[in-house]
Amino acid sequence: MADKDHVLIFDTTLRDGEQSPGATMSHDEKLEIAELLDDMGVDIIEAGFPIASEGDFDAVSEIAKRSKASVICGLSRANYKDIDRCWEAVKHSARPRIHTFIGTSPLHRAIPNLDMDQMAERIHDTVTHARNLCDNVQWSPMDATRTEWDYLCRVVEIAIKAGATTINVPDTVGYTAPRESAELIRKLIERVPGADAVIFATHCHNDLGMATANALAAVEGGARQIECTINGLGERAGNTALEEVVMALRVRGDIMPYKTGIETTKLMHISRRVSTVSGFAVQFNKAIVGKNAFAHESGIHQDGMLKNAETFEIMRPEDIGLSETNIVMGKHSGRAALRSKLKELGFDLADNQLNDVFVRFKALADRKKEVLADDLIALMRDQESGEEYDRIQVKFLRVICGTEAPQSADLTLSIDGKDHQTTAQGDGPVDATFNAVKALFPHEAVLQLYEVHAVTEGTDAQATVSVRMEEAGRIATGQSADTDTVVASAKAYVNALNRLLVRREKSDPDADVKQVSYKDAG
Ligand code: KIV
Ligand code: ZN
Repeated sequence: MADKDHVLIFDTTLRDGEQSPGATMSHDEKLEIAELLDDMGVDIIEAGFPIASEGDFDAVSEIAKRSKASVICGLSRANYKDIDRCWEAVKHSARPRIHTFIGTSPLHRAIPNLDMDQMAERIHDTVTHARNLCDNVQWSPMDATRTEWDYLCRVVEIAIKAGATTINVPDTVGYTAPRESAELIRKLIERVPGADAVIFATHCHNDLGMATANALAAVEGGARQIECTINGLGERAGNTALEEVVMALRVRGDIMPYKTGIETTKLMHISRRVSTVSGFAVQFNKAIVGKNAFAHESGIHQDGMLKNAETFEIMRPEDIGLSETNIVMGKHSGRAALRSKLKELGFDLADNQLNDVFVRFKALADRKKEVLADDLIALMRDQESGEEYDRIQVKFLRVICGTEAPQSADLTLSIDGKDHQTTAQGDGPVDATFNAVKALFPHEAVLQLYEVHAVTEGTDAQATVSVRMEEAGRIATGQSADTDTVVASAKAYVNALNRLLVRREKSDPDADVKQVSYKDAG
């Protein structure tokens, strides 16, 4: 397959994805995800927005230092200070890229109050500046799909002349539709002098549920870089999902003859990791990586599947790294079996980690007859989210509930190593428990989201609980799993609180830049 048919995969989970409120990841989590992306064959990793905070800068620099095959890219607004800071972070990579952007649509031009000529000049100056630092420069006209096409052609030409090597065409607000998405890229390539010397990229948001379709249509129109995120993570309705475009190109190579360099068998594992570290659960019916994507419940489907899997499956679970076996483990299963099952699920544990998980596995197996793959994944998530953030821990919880309100919770928390006990009442057992946490550890954080999912079927199923909290503009998500929903709720609440505390301690004066990045893009 000739190079012109190769589509580069640009992953922005760590930048656009992480920008999603509540999806903030820790430094170590970002390094881990970057390594997984690199190993999976992602061509370009957008590792962050270095001017946004010290934390972002450090993460991008470290990812750049550790990178193997991927190009490491950082985002910067259209000013010299941002671009310099971005370069300082990405320059450690063997393959650095500076990505600089400015909003070009009428609405976005009004924000920095630049007229068309002034903006054109700003684009020329900033792209030239970036190109003097780095020979790999990506330029984006933010809100391109709502920019006048003539003006878009004009500014794209300026960026190319100033040295941009990739022109990204963002559908910032998820407004375009497939035919228009293809047409826009086709027009730019036809009309802009020098277009054949650069790569055109597509960057779609999913506000109308068309991000995947729009990205694939852009490829038909001539784009050869797709910008996307794992699980479609991203602000509002999210970005194009990496796993969807990659598998669509693979499965429908007959009508879309383009290749990517992605090792698809790593998709499932990275999807789980991103879901865990971002705290954003993957919806059950999500294409490719959803829990039900390969499940066949109805009799007719099951019958067909048994005769020939292709009857109802257009791809094999193994293609995305999903193993067929949902081996049942139980209280008699040993350490070796646990290690091997976890390895199959993508968790390669050191001996001491295995010991910790084994204790928790035994406790779960005592309460639950069969421990399934999904139970083990939930157990691992629980283990990991507790590891890094543990100033406050749930030591004991007993709730009294029934038809008569109010319900009450008797709770002991360990706070900085010291036990504290209280009893609180509330409207239901979860409310009573949260009130008890608040009584023991008073705080101003506001609960933004409380979500419960059953991990498997049956009345002894584990529940995974996600809790999102906000305090002074900082958002943190906590997760936990337990066969007891109220215990999982208490632990998830405490986990979110611990994460907020870490964030509060680490917060720096620049931390809010990220929140204003779009408004301040000029
Ligand atoms: O959606 C968007 O326009 C962006 C740009 C910063 C590329 O994320
Ligand atoms: Zn975006």
